Amino acid sequence: MNTTFKRIFSLLLTALIILTALTGCGNRATNVKQTEEMDLTKDTNILVVYFTWSGHLQSMAHWIADETGADIVRVIAKEAYPEDYNATADRAKNEKNEGIRPEITLSLSAEELAKYDTIFFGFPVWWYDLPMPMWTFLESVDLSGKTVIPFFSHEGSSNGASSLDTLVSLAKGADVKRDDVLSIRGGKVDASEDTVREWVRGLGYGK
Ligand SMILES: Cc1cc2nc3c(=O)[nH]c(=O)nc-3n(C[C@H](O)[C@H](O)[C@H](O)COP(=O)(O)O)c2cc1C
Repeated sequence: MNTTFKRIFSLLLTALIILTALTGCGNRATNVKQTEEMDLTKDTNILVVYFTWSGHLQSMAHWIADETGADIVRVIAKEAYPEDYNATADRAKNEKNEGIRPEITLSLSAEELAKYDTIFFGFPVWWYDLPMPMWTFLESVDLSGKTVIPFFSHEGSSNGASSLDTLVSLAKGADVKRDDVLSIRGGKVDASEDTVREWVRGLGYGK
């Protein structure tokens, strides 16, 4: 792709994302409560780590945790994202452009992480990349030697845009299974429980 084409494509995609969000089509355009979630108590070597704003990844993460019997934690920013979509989009864009790592409430010690061989890592694509709180998380942990399986939802960036490259570069020493990734369009998530559970079983992680 030449640069002009890339730029036009990027502008069109941005317009589409904003439009679908504002019309409530696909994106729920409303956030779910930014409350912490952490259950590290199961007898398992699998951990589901997820970030969500409007709830799609929360649903996907819980189906995966249920199907695998995994522990689960949610990454949230210490300073919650606004309830308003546009305000959240603006803040996220600024964080991305400025390379800001927002502080997060989650802190996992090396001892806590030692329990896990496999991490299911879930996020919405934000501005063609991982949401910046996931950068903060990945830079706060050592996942070397672990298997990391990405899953995400999007409103057009169905291949995750830059997010998987970022994940590979930040999860140093981890075996990131980018070919196994699960990508679901935001508007389809609510009807995708079976798809998510079948994906987990297909990878050999069903209970
Ligand atoms: C701040 C922000 C930026 C977004 N950027 C993109 C993007 O670059 N590409 C895309 O396909 N979707 C983008 N989306 C749409 C979300 O990825 C999509 O709605 C996703 O399903 C939301 O997941 P959640 O409900 O777990 O928050 C963006 C949404 C938000 C709020």
